[in-house]
Amino acid sequence: MNNDSTIVIRPALGLEGSVRLPGDKSISHRYAMLGAIAQGTTKLENFSTGADCASTLGCVRTLGAQWERKDGSVVIQGRGPALQAPKSPLDCGNSGSTMRMLSGILAGQEFQSELIGDESLSRRPMARIITPLSDMGAKIKSQDGGRPPLHINGGRLKAIDYTMPVASAQVKTSLLFAGLYAGGETRVTESVRTRDHGEVALRAFGAELKHEGNTVEIAGGQELHGIEATIPGDLSSAAFFLCAAALFPGSQLSIPGLLMNPTRARLLDLLISLGVGISVTQLEETNGELIGTVQVEGRKLRSLTVSGADTAAVIDEIPVLAAIAPFSSEGIEIRDARELRVKESDRIAAVATNLRAMGAEVEEREDGLNIPGNQRLHGAELDSFGDHRIAMAFAVAALRADGHTKISKSDAAVISYPAFYEALESLLQR
Ligand code: S3P
Repeated sequence: MNNDSTIVIRPALGLEGSVRLPGDKSISHRYAMLGAIAQGTTKLENFSTGADCASTLGCVRTLGAQWERKDGSVVIQGRGPALQAPKSPLDCGNSGSTMRMLSGILAGQEFQSELIGDESLSRRPMARIITPLSDMGAKIKSQDGGRPPLHINGGRLKAIDYTMPVASAQVKTSLLFAGLYAGGETRVTESVRTRDHGEVALRAFGAELKHEGNTVEIAGGQELHGIEATIPGDLSSAAFFLCAAALFPGSQLSIPGLLMNPTRARLLDLLISLGVGISVTQLEETNGELIGTVQVEGRKLRSLTVSGADTAAVIDEIPVLAAIAPFSSEGIEIRDARELRVKESDRIAAVATNLRAMGAEVEEREDGLNIPGNQRLHGAELDSFGDHRIAMAFAVAALRADGHTKISKSDAAVISYPAFYEALESLLQR
């Protein structure tokens, strides 16, 4: 890597080996926040190494929760439900999860707080949490009709019965966290099932929740207790290796200790229908989350359409699925993915731009992409657009291109997986 963090990726001949992933980002955020408002100590092993979860830890420290980090473990001294008024703005960095989910907790605090973010986060929509948290009684000011920074004036909340207009696990979790500070039962309904780590984590910390269909209900005033947990390997980070293995018929990859939560593991089913050989062994449950060992075998890739509830279930894995699409025999179509336009970058535009730079034919739509198969790609100069998942997705596509590929701002990978390039290199056959 050189100074402006441009990385050069050379084509590979195959992929073989075993890799263990740092802890899941979604779970690490939630455990860190709940650990801060729980009674007692929370001990977390295999905490996410990404900068996003470091942003969450930074915020909870500014809110008075002490923690220590050593190697992969984080030990948090819970303060109980009342946090300390922050003396400075809460810096969420690049992390939408930090801003949206922490807002739920801040809405219930008897003080004012300000949440700020980097340039990318400052463009992202926050009305989706501002509207329901305001209905619960929080006073929230934002910029330009719902962009960060957010100023939250919290206090005792009232319960609401809310149907989310956008499928978002961050919003659902934010409202359930706020529900802890509300009088009565807060109910959240989603149109399609999103990841349930918020619900699973709340139960692990001792809260009771009711679940019926796509509605979840939480009663206010429940006490949380610290937990000891080993965080399962991050499935969205593993996706880059799963897709890299998929590019090479005959490749063999093993990933132990990987998150297998059914609301996250849809990617495995989609890869199987694309043609990849996948088996899961050693399934176990830990603090309500499933983990297992995934074995992958590269085979000829056929075709795939991702739409509806599947799109929501693999929303973070779509960039890498799209990046390997030209190497399938019949192509991949992505539908119902408008949300990708308001992630860390406009991921639909970023994928189309980079694939075209590599010589691929791509149809870009408002809510998706259609990428024909059986295409030959050449190395090119690409941009990560400052987006971790775009950087890593194209490091994978570049493995099957003719010639070298340069990806600028490749260090965006630190947001979720700082050791990604080294781990990828260690698995490649040249
Ligand atoms: C996340 C939910 C998803 C996902 C994000 C993490 C979570 O976002 O894209 O990376 O941990 O709940 P939305 O809630 O906006 O769908």
